[in-house]
Amino acid sequence: MTRSRTTLHRAAIGVLVGLSLAVPAMAQGTTPPLRTLAARRHLPFGTAGALELLRANADAGTYADVMAKEFDMIEPENQLKPPAIWTGPDQYDWSNADWLVGAPGQTGWAQAHHMQVRGHVLVYARDDGYTLPEWLRRQEAQITPDQARKYLSDYIHTLVGRYKGKIFAWDVVNEAIDDNPANQNRFHLRDSFWFRKLGPEFLKLAFQYAHEADPDAELYLNEYGAEGLGYKSDAVLDILKWLKEQGVFVTGAGMQYHQSVGDSIKPGDAHYQNAQRLQAAGFAFMVTELDVAMPVSDGRAGLIPANAADLDRQADVYRDLLQLALDSPNCHGYQVWGFTDAHNWIPGFSKGRGAATILDGKYQPKPAYRAIAQLLKAPAPRASGE
Ligand code: XIL
Repeated sequence: MTRSRTTLHRAAIGVLVGLSLAVPAMAQGTTPPLRTLAARRHLPFGTAGALELLRANADAGTYADVMAKEFDMIEPENQLKPPAIWTGPDQYDWSNADWLVGAPGQTGWAQAHHMQVRGHVLVYARDDGYTLPEWLRRQEAQITPDQARKYLSDYIHTLVGRYKGKIFAWDVVNEAIDDNPANQNRFHLRDSFWFRKLGPEFLKLAFQYAHEADPDAELYLNEYGAEGLGYKSDAVLDILKWLKEQGVFVTGAGMQYHQSVGDSIKPGDAHYQNAQRLQAAGFAFMVTELDVAMPVSDGRAGLIPANAADLDRQADVYRDLLQLALDSPNCHGYQVWGFTDAHNWIPGFSKGRGAATILDGKYQPKPAYRAIAQLLKAPAPRASGE
């Protein structure tokens, strides 16, 4: 333990030295890092992090340096998803998560860099390779509802329990609501392994187990396309109320906020109304996966905007959503889904789009970075939340 902490400390010092060489504009600029500015506004400021890049010291350490300098919260992009952790019945791969937050009784990279960790995700309610363990899918025909309940209980208790007190918030269920509004089952739930086995009850059980395993953790229902007003955000609110009515602990809604340039978020609009109705019903929310994609001219790399003017339009979205977060006493954090165009999921996922983050492919600030810094520096006080 002592040894690994020392190593981490040395790594951190090396990182700082490297940073001033690698990213002079940011390291020597007069603006404090975004995490410092956000902390003054009582707003946790996070990013998704690719642990494989952190562990490989990607880009001569710049990936890790910049992340730790600018953000005070990290959510592993893929390494806490069920297929990454849950390798078989009663079998777990803890290697990445232990590296990040430490095995029981120890600390890891996150604590060494004074970052809090958001967990993503306990139940990813769809049946893709990156959401549901392959071994579970293969056994589906043999698994009874009772066995499914036991699997779910074992998994959540084991994982959440192992990192109790170290992972301050969890996406308990992700993407449970169907993309087809014509799907009329209760809450418009998507067809998935857990839904087929347990019906809407899987939502309740997942939250119950997570709360049993770590009563202090914040617990979220995370979703995309549920940011404004519509059947998905209605369903999110209905589920949260349904859980609460049954005495199940839930913190609120995780709103992914995968956006495109040109999207509009303005005081009084559907985004504000949704945030306010959550607050009125006693729920928090967190911006969990913000990115703002634009057309790019270089296809797969996704580094070069097709229209330079889109950089300013992108900045508008990052700023306007930050304003909503700052205006909302029930907003528990603002988190981006990647912070440099050098490493971002959009170009691989959405052909012809990219440049979605606040730093370019060389880790240099884009207009969006500056817009965030400027708004965080604005004098308006923020209520310290609830
Ligand atoms: C994405 C990752 O960014 C990719 O690297 C991976 O290949 C697929 O998953 N909503 C979520 C995230 O909740 O888990 C997804 O992450 C992006 C959409």
